[in-house]
Amino acid sequence: MKVLIDHISKTYVDRKGERTEALQDIHFAIEENEFVVVVGPSGCGKSTLLNIIAGLLSPTSGQVIFEGTRTNTKPHTAVVFQDFALFPWRTVLKNIVYGLEEKGLNKTEQSTIAEQFISMVGLRGFEKKYPHQLSGGMKQRVSIARALANDPLLLLMDEPFSALDAQTRTLMQYELSRIWEETQKSFLYITHNIQEAVFLGDRVVILSRRPGKVLSIMKIDLPRPRNEHLTVEKKYLEYVNAIWRYIKEQAWEALEEKT
Ligand SMILES: Nc1ncnc2c1ncn2[C@@H]1O[C@H](COP(=O)(O)OP(=O)(O)OP(=O)(O)O)[C@@H](O)[C@H]1O
Ligand SMILES: [Mg+2]
Repeated sequence: MKVLIDHISKTYVDRKGERTEALQDIHFAIEENEFVVVVGPSGCGKSTLLNIIAGLLSPTSGQVIFEGTRTNTKPHTAVVFQDFALFPWRTVLKNIVYGLEEKGLNKTEQSTIAEQFISMVGLRGFEKKYPHQLSGGMKQRVSIARALANDPLLLLMDEPFSALDAQTRTLMQYELSRIWEETQKSFLYITHNIQEAVFLGDRVVILSRRPGKVLSIMKIDLPRPRNEHLTVEKKYLEYVNAIWRYIKEQAWEALEEKT
């Protein structure tokens, strides 16, 4: 299944009629089993794009096409947000099966699926804990398991690790890379962090400052599985520098405009 982000533009209009142009003619595809990362400066419309792909927001023009699927047969997307968005009154297990309950699956079916994803994200033994009893990294593991349990065609992640401390974030990047390889699904991952983008992505879509436009799409030709050894490789650092050059230019332009 390929997802086509087909010439999406978005302008917000508030109650006073004030317009904010967030995205301009965003066009790219996410191939089957591909890990695509979107990077761009703060406020360039990344979350807007993700919300449009998730169907939570309508574009002003353009469309999102899930090629080769019949509509409404499956949830097309599931989202992992930055702030975990877990139900505090539900245990880890109950958070993960939430979507399955909604779908009307029986208890046995729910626990078979839940067990698979609890193992995949490394939460075995924590099934009965509540979110407040977990670290940030573990909470985000629950969010990932809950999203995957719904069997989406495309997993959407909006800066999922930015609330985590630096070491946990690095570990979660390794974990996510492994999880993606296990699921063989399409992932769209949004971040400010260039190192993270290169570490995770098959391709990186670089957005300009607002209104977000596609500046470049870079294919990351690095071997998998990806692990810590990669981050000292020359080729990895070259990709990081190449993306930084795009982002830096944008940041300078924004600064000059302000002064
Ligand atoms: N509901 C809204 N109404 C009006 N303007 C909005 C709305 N949501 C976002 N915006 C504006 O649209 C632009 C893009 O916002 P968005 O949250 O998509 O950017 P972002 O790239 O995700 O930012 P960040 O890097 O800070 O997460 C910003 O200028 C923001 O102020
Ligand atoms: Mg955002």
